[in-house]
Amino acid sequence: MLDASISLDPAFTVAPVNRRTFGTFVEHLGRCVYEGIYEPGHPTADEDGFRGDVLALTRELGTTVVRYPGGNFVSGYRWEDGVGPVAERPTRLDLAWRSLEPNEVGLDEFVRWARKAGVEPMMAVNLGTRGVQEALDVLEYANHPGGTALSDRRVANGSPQPHAIRVWCLGNEMDGPWQTGHKTAAEYGRLAAETARAMRQLQPDLELVACGSSGSQMPTFGAWESTVLAECYDLVDFVSLHAYYEEGDDVASFLASAVDMDRFVDAVVATADAVGAQVRSRKRLQLSFDEWNVWYLSSWQEESAAGLEWRRAPRLLEDTYTVTDAVVVGNLLVSLLRHSDRVTSACLAQLVNVIAPIRCEPGGPAWRQTTFHPFALTAALAKGDVLRTEVRSPEQPTARYGDVPVVDAVATHDPGSGDVALLAVNRSLDEPVRLDVDLRSFGPLTVAGTHLLSDPDRRATNTRDDPDRVHPRPVEVTTDGGHAVVTLPPVSWLAVRLAAG
Ligand code: AHR
Repeated sequence: MLDASISLDPAFTVAPVNRRTFGTFVEHLGRCVYEGIYEPGHPTADEDGFRGDVLALTRELGTTVVRYPGGNFVSGYRWEDGVGPVAERPTRLDLAWRSLEPNEVGLDEFVRWARKAGVEPMMAVNLGTRGVQEALDVLEYANHPGGTALSDRRVANGSPQPHAIRVWCLGNEMDGPWQTGHKTAAEYGRLAAETARAMRQLQPDLELVACGSSGSQMPTFGAWESTVLAECYDLVDFVSLHAYYEEGDDVASFLASAVDMDRFVDAVVATADAVGAQVRSRKRLQLSFDEWNVWYLSSWQEESAAGLEWRRAPRLLEDTYTVTDAVVVGNLLVSLLRHSDRVTSACLAQLVNVIAPIRCEPGGPAWRQTTFHPFALTAALAKGDVLRTEVRSPEQPTARYGDVPVVDAVATHDPGSGDVALLAVNRSLDEPVRLDVDLRSFGPLTVAGTHLLSDPDRRATNTRDDPDRVHPRPVEVTTDGGHAVVTLPPVSWLAVRLAAG
């Protein structure tokens, strides 16, 4: 048994919890849209063809903002194909995922779905094969009240009210050679700046996201951010970050993925602030971590290298998540919350079927993957202010990140209700940890809810036949003299709610 401890104090805060930290992502990819959010004819489908069971799980997940329509998909997308009478919409080749895109769901349908789900839509524009004019066109179609050719088309298509979409991504992963129309940093920086300037001429209060590197492992990482932001720093609000992790040979490194996320965020903050100083800006750029997750990317690379047939809604990237994956996802949320002063928007990629917390079958059930649970509980419990959470923990070696703390944690405090939420992980493969949390700086607190995700088989999963095999269970938390004490089993994620009084 190892020992770790945390001292919490309501006076030491990082920033308020941003509700946009709990974003997700719906891309036209595999079965995320078709047979995912949309399946007319499914027993639970509503009048618009949206699956009721998936909508219910989306609400339960507590996601707040959903990015759309891609992803790599957006870099070849013609948004006009997806509006107007469905029968007249063209089927197109989607080069990003080598699929057939029927365009039965487009902008208007997605916004309707988002309203039903109670989430904020976050749109991406195509800066791969397209440019400033098409970005202006989709913005006018979506947000202008009426009385112009494009806004009247939206009205005629059944949406009299503007969609009022505030957050727009200026392309996607434009540094990646896999991206249709990918660009150098100088080319993209200029295009992002001119697109942002033009979009703000149409609507000044937009929140715009410039593409950062598609990963910190990219050879251009750092230089890309500097060059791009030198062009567009004062024209955008966010720079994006994307990161995916998978369990390889070294499980200890995989369990420490949040260490990499911490370092990635710190590096982008440093780069953005350096550019901010160079361009003499008073603005502090925000970070949009708008793609993050566990993704068994190497399996997909093998599968796609073998060649794919052109098909509608193929089964792509349908990773089935383990307990270990869920612990890593819970830890990545700890990292995002810890950086709430700069990471003010984040999207788990993706929402349903494609590397997703929700899975479903055509004509059949929908269920929660293991990763659903830490996301839903963190979104539900993290409220008020994020507290500076210093963990005193033993360390363990990892091949990729050196020695890392066995325990990682973050806490939030809601000044209104007085509630405290603690989110913690044990990254050890074999040692339980006794965690002591010093709460003496708060008034009286009682344990109001405990949720432990752990399993004797760290590879256990949820499946269609056994959809609740893995779920959080209550755990004993003892309180004495202003301390709360709990034992974290190996490879586990914990959430505790402490209520004032
Ligand atoms: O989320 C899957 C893909 O990962 C996205 O389309 C792309 O942006 C990233 O490479």
